[in-house]
Amino acid sequence: MNLEQSVLGVDIGGSSVKFSLLDSGEIVANERVEYSNGKEPPAIVEMIHEQCQKWSFDGSIGIGFPGKIAENTIVDAPNLGAAWNGYNLIEDFILKDRRKVEIINDADAAALAMAQQVEGWEGKDILCLTLGTGIGSAWLKQGELLAGTEYGRTIHPELGFTLEQWASVRTMNEEKLTIDEWALRLCTILNFLSSKYKPDLFLLSGGITEDAQAWLSTVQDNVAIPVLVSEYGEFTGSVGATKLVLV
Ligand code: BGC
Repeated sequence: MNLEQSVLGVDIGGSSVKFSLLDSGEIVANERVEYSNGKEPPAIVEMIHEQCQKWSFDGSIGIGFPGKIAENTIVDAPNLGAAWNGYNLIEDFILKDRRKVEIINDADAAALAMAQQVEGWEGKDILCLTLGTGIGSAWLKQGELLAGTEYGRTIHPELGFTLEQWASVRTMNEEKLTIDEWALRLCTILNFLSSKYKPDLFLLSGGITEDAQAWLSTVQDNVAIPVLVSEYGEFTGSVGATKLVLV
């Protein structure tokens, strides 16, 4: 492995952190690390440092983060806690490490990984959703990333819940929904987004897409436009984050 050409992608999630190491555009390692020391900034920064040590990596890092970001500062992170509000993760790394670090919302990072997975993507309006503890969103509109959409926080007018309160993987687990019950809830939010924003297709990522054979046909039977899932499964966000720091 030529580490000179390597970049590290980090996807900070609601229940784990995913790491992908890419060398000259090829994935050479993927790893999911569960939280064992809380989700506050020092604990997560330490997890990233530990993974760098484990992989003997000292190059540039792209980070997908599960919340709103403005000028490199975290505005909020509903699934990680208020300690992140106003935190500048980049500064923390640059001051300590002097390495290049870039940050973007996790759903936007996932969209960067998925763009080329759809034939003719430069001419389509693709609504990307990342399904996990929360629901993140990003547009690939005519080949351009439109970042910061946060559709998971939209309140569904008839349900009275936000889209992620209704159909996130966390909700499935908390309410002990069957996979079919969850898939029908996902259809409700896809149909809502489809009539509101008129995408050409949906592109989904997140760990649950690795078991898409258990639910995708139910979803496709109930949604009029194509619904596709990422080729990178749970590592979509970490692979996409590397695109921020490609050498
Ligand atoms: C956050 C989004 C994030 C999504 C997926 C939501 O709760 O508000 O910023 O993209 O979860 O992690």
